Amino acid sequence: MNYTKKILITGGAGFIGSCLVRHLVAKYPNYLIVNADKLTYAGNLANLESIKDASNYRFVKADICDAAAMQQIFTEYSIDHVIHTAAESHVDRSISNPMEFVQTNVVGTVKLLNICKSAWQDDAAHLFYHISTDEVYGSLGETGKFTETTPYDPRSPYSSSKASSDHFVRAYHETYGLPTVISNCSNNYGPFHFPEKLIPLCINNILHEKPLPVYGKGDNIRDWLFVQDHVEAIDLIFHQGKTGSTYNIGGDNEWKNIDLVRALCKIMDRKLGRAIGSSEKLITFVKDRAGHDQRYAIDFTKLNSELGWKPKAQFEEGLEETVQWYLDHQNWVEQVISGEYKKYYEAQYTTR
Ligand code: NAD
Ligand code: TYD
Repeated sequence: MNYTKKILITGGAGFIGSCLVRHLVAKYPNYLIVNADKLTYAGNLANLESIKDASNYRFVKADICDAAAMQQIFTEYSIDHVIHTAAESHVDRSISNPMEFVQTNVVGTVKLLNICKSAWQDDAAHLFYHISTDEVYGSLGETGKFTETTPYDPRSPYSSSKASSDHFVRAYHETYGLPTVISNCSNNYGPFHFPEKLIPLCINNILHEKPLPVYGKGDNIRDWLFVQDHVEAIDLIFHQGKTGSTYNIGGDNEWKNIDLVRALCKIMDRKLGRAIGSSEKLITFVKDRAGHDQRYAIDFTKLNSELGWKPKAQFEEGLEETVQWYLDHQNWVEQVISGEYKKYYEAQYTTR
């Protein structure tokens, strides 16, 4: 088969990466999709079950920090495009173990950039698309939104590592002329979300009538976006984004954590046939996250006006769908919360 594009997706066994891989493999049979993932605690081949035998899909277990292994993938598959989603992604883990974040998010990204720089010296079309976060912009007060020109002000080890990788991507574009694009997205939610993050953690704890740990007063605000909407934005930017540009992606959907947890309790009570209000009794205010960013909000006017993107999912419907997915996929949940997760959960929450 003569594929029109040979795309390397890094981290394609994670939450967003697997949604992207499933989307691209199904929608573009004329593209070869090569997924390179280290399969850390967050990577899961069960997320890719639906496309694992597709003829235009390959999986390689590889660490992006292993330059020889990545070079081998470039040579074997003549990779001409990269969508880089691999990362250590959880803020709380970055607070306990920042070095892992420096290693994968910064060093791993620069190693990949180097491989692209030396591999792509022909006239063919190439792109290094870096998937990043709105957290690089820091924390907002009650008003305002992040735009693409908001100065970077990362405050957690996670956001600092992502900010650093964003800077390297821009530097490779400016210095070496590498064709790059970056998008910075707000908090995603949806199926296959690893249950260390707020929404799936609460769904699982409500189901098992365990405490719902709300940090601080629960008044921190996040802008939530359904993961499929993020993936459709990535698809659009990948095909039509301006090289060297940055695009913000957001849900226009700000929620205080406590209100979101209460909304999840209501949905779960209804779905489980419990008295409405009973799960709210599980809410437990716990010690705040160190350096907890107060509010994120994204202005995605640029992406809307240049490429016509806007989120499609209504939050209430997206949450219902997400809750139902977790209820229908208890085997998946049981598999990911056995082993390493148990130790993480105990260390994070038992004495909090
Ligand atoms: P995730 O933690 O669910 O998945 C990360 C994936 O990367 C896993 O499959 C893991 O095995 C893989 N990985 C980690 N280190 C690796 C390495 N050294 N080599 C190869 N693979 C490695 O993360 P996610 O939530 O899907 O986030 C994906 C990307 O999107 C990240 O870059 C993150 O910063 C960004 N992002 C996430 C969100 C969000 O709300 N989840 C929002 C905006 C941006
Ligand atoms: P999280 O899902 O970890 O995403 P991020 O830190 O990248 O925004 O957290 C979302 C919000 O929920 C954040 O303000 C921290 C808060 N939170 C809790 O209150 N309790 C929890 O157990 C977790 C994991 C998060």
